[in-house]
Amino acid sequence: MILFHALYIIWIFILFPLFKAEEFIPKVTENLIEETSFNLVSFDDSNTSIRLDGWGVVWISFDAGENWEAVKEIEERIFKFTVDPFHGQERGFAFICESPKFYITDDRGGSWRALTIPSSEEYLDGDCFITTHPTKKELIIANCYSYMINADVVDDPSEIYLTNNGGSFFKIKPSLEKKKDDDITTSSCDFIKSSKNSDFTGNDASILCLFSNREYDEEYRLTGHYTQLALSSDGGKTFKEFDEFKHKIVNRYKILKSHVVVLTQDDSHNEMSSMDIWISKDASTFQKAQLPTPLRDVEVGKIHEDSMGRIILPISTGFTDEKNEQPAPSEILISDSRGLKFSPIKWTPNHQFGDIRLTFPDFLKGTIFGSFHPSIDYSHRKGIYSGNISREETKISVDNGLTWSNLKVVDRENADSFGCDITRTEECSLHGHSYNPIFPNPSAGIIMMTGSVGDGSEFKRKDQKTFISRDGGLTWRLAHNSSGLFATGDLGNIIVYIPYFSDEDGGVQSKIYFSLDQGKIWSEYELTDGISFIHPSELINTAPDGSGSKFILNGYHITTSHQKGSIVYAIDFSAAFDYKICEEEDFEDWNLADGKCVNGAKYKYRRRKQDARCLVKKAFKDMSLLETPCNSCSESDNECSFQFVRDTNGQCVPDYNLIALSRICDKSKGKSVLVKPLQLIKGDKCKTPMKIEPIDISCDEIPKEGSNGKKIVSTGNKFDFESQFHQYLDTVIDGTFGHAGFNR
Ligand SMILES: *[C@@H]1O[C@H](CO)[C@@H](O)[C@H](O)[C@H]1NC(C)=O
Ligand SMILES: *[C@@H]1O[C@H](CO)[C@@H](O)[C@H](O)[C@H]1NC(C)=O
Ligand SMILES: *[C@@H]1O[C@H](CO)[C@@H](O)[C@H](O)[C@H]1NC(C)=O
Repeated sequence: MILFHALYIIWIFILFPLFKAEEFIPKVTENLIEETSFNLVSFDDSNTSIRLDGWGVVWISFDAGENWEAVKEIEERIFKFTVDPFHGQERGFAFICESPKFYITDDRGGSWRALTIPSSEEYLDGDCFITTHPTKKELIIANCYSYMINADVVDDPSEIYLTNNGGSFFKIKPSLEKKKDDDITTSSCDFIKSSKNSDFTGNDASILCLFSNREYDEEYRLTGHYTQLALSSDGGKTFKEFDEFKHKIVNRYKILKSHVVVLTQDDSHNEMSSMDIWISKDASTFQKAQLPTPLRDVEVGKIHEDSMGRIILPISTGFTDEKNEQPAPSEILISDSRGLKFSPIKWTPNHQFGDIRLTFPDFLKGTIFGSFHPSIDYSHRKGIYSGNISREETKISVDNGLTWSNLKVVDRENADSFGCDITRTEECSLHGHSYNPIFPNPSAGIIMMTGSVGDGSEFKRKDQKTFISRDGGLTWRLAHNSSGLFATGDLGNIIVYIPYFSDEDGGVQSKIYFSLDQGKIWSEYELTDGISFIHPSELINTAPDGSGSKFILNGYHITTSHQKGSIVYAIDFSAAFDYKICEEEDFEDWNLADGKCVNGAKYKYRRRKQDARCLVKKAFKDMSLLETPCNSCSESDNECSFQFVRDTNGQCVPDYNLIALSRICDKSKGKSVLVKPLQLIKGDKCKTPMKIEPIDISCDEIPKEGSNGKKIVSTGNKFDFESQFHQYLDTVIDGTFGHAGFNR
């Protein structure tokens, strides 16, 4: 009896530090796979997940990753599976490599049917990319490319196919005639409605297409290039060309929520020739936008719209002007809320050559992360030049880009480990390592980031750490001395983290870490038996909306005998806190932007208190953002009126070229006009407008617009603009201005 008692005490003594009475252990199910496993995705609001294996087999799980079965209806090898971004609850596409055939499921993997795009013989080698319609499920566009049809020609011809019944595709015939038979035609088409909340009303099925023909001589030199931008409202049968672009080369277009942006190039033979940007709000007429500098390197893919409908145009310096010794610094241009006038965002003093990326997490309204990464211009061997050290920079704006700040580290516990003084945020802040910070799941402000702390001048690739913020990115704490994969669940109340490499010996990884209190305490869970280990490749919450409590981890399984397989874990936290569901007193308000008014409204989420011992457990329910409009409007709810630009003090001052363009003097009989320098930002929610005194503008000095077909030239503005708004108006105003009002 005494012996038993002694044993009992020892047991408790040993077990207590390992498993505290209250410590929770997730339910983990392991699946060993002979082949590599990849492309792990989940359907929205369901327990269904899909992954592929190295044989091209599609595997499906109906219970959040615990059990998997092969999809038997699919015989071919699949290399890619995507869930329809607009119909994520039920539809997905499985693509066969280099084939116009693909499989579609409309009932989240319950059944599958094959579709084949009737592409012409010579296009067979290409891949097709599918675009679906945000509201009309039966509409699908396939952009089919063919590669190396003639290896000497750099252009890849492409064809467009459309279905309006979700089944049979037909080819869209380019409305642009070829001048010569062997001209190379590329087509691209998109639905005018690019999102569910798109502002383009009218015919939902309208598509915008860009057709482009290039002709080459015998030596495959480009000898001609002509383009046509056209709109079809009848499913691609007939097209209406836009008159604005009849004699221009249209380079690219981008369809946003409330604008269509079109880039035209003056000289099709010269990539460096300057571009114009055209904006449309109704997909029927376009106006040329006013730019502060000539545009050369616009990466169309990165054009965005912020939540107020302002167009954001990151200009990266991939090329430099030969004549110019200094490569132009990267910058970001933002339009006014009418979309017609661009000016630079003052976000970084870092005038360097490199690449700017902006990230707009949907669930953090008004928040933008900006990251700058210096780069070297290999073609000109410039780059880290003139002895100046290049610096990486990561900044955050929580007021839609009005003000920017560094990512402040507030971590007294680890303050000594960063090598700089974290109270001096200007030179000691968090800099993200990836080009864009990754927010795998929406959460109530609880986010993680991989990076390092310093002034950004050292690329500490080897010294990456993982940080956590509970206030949407304003302040950060160290979470792990390593980098890895992470995902959140239950709106941020469950966080799972696995380092790429174990921190102990830099090699084997066999543990996951999890936190049930928004990152304050981390617990470990040993995945493997210590003989084999895992190199993690994918970690997802099975509810992409971040609400659920089940996760799937996929990784390469490495043992001494078995090198090639994968290992997939289903990790289930549903039983945490003994299944306790949070009650009213377990919640608090979390205010975005520190509770300040941003564009006329305050936003908040209700979230679980950090230490509450329960889960929200609203699986598959999206978080709801609560909005309170602000009473009085302030400066920040306004922008410069069209005829005005900001001077170095931030004041809106008249600009004579813009005054000429707006034709306000044409209408006035007198020698001067009264114009308000500020206008309310369109879509701003503030209630009581600010009183704005109009300014008397003298019309004497205004160059008469269009008179005798004369060019508008830069007139000497009397204001201190510095480099805020360079005069660049060397083209004739071609009549597209003026018939639409700018200043409403
Ligand atoms: C997902 O699985 C849970 C149990 O594991 C079940 O209660 C729930 O109804 C399932 N949800 C859906 C949408 O299938
Ligand atoms: C180097 O950096 C300093 C300070 O940041 C700046 O004043 C100077 O113009 C830079 N020199 C060059 C050649 O870019
Ligand atoms: C990270 O490393 C520092 C010093 O090496 C140590 O003091 C700290 O506790 C570690 N933090 C974590 C979260 O592992």
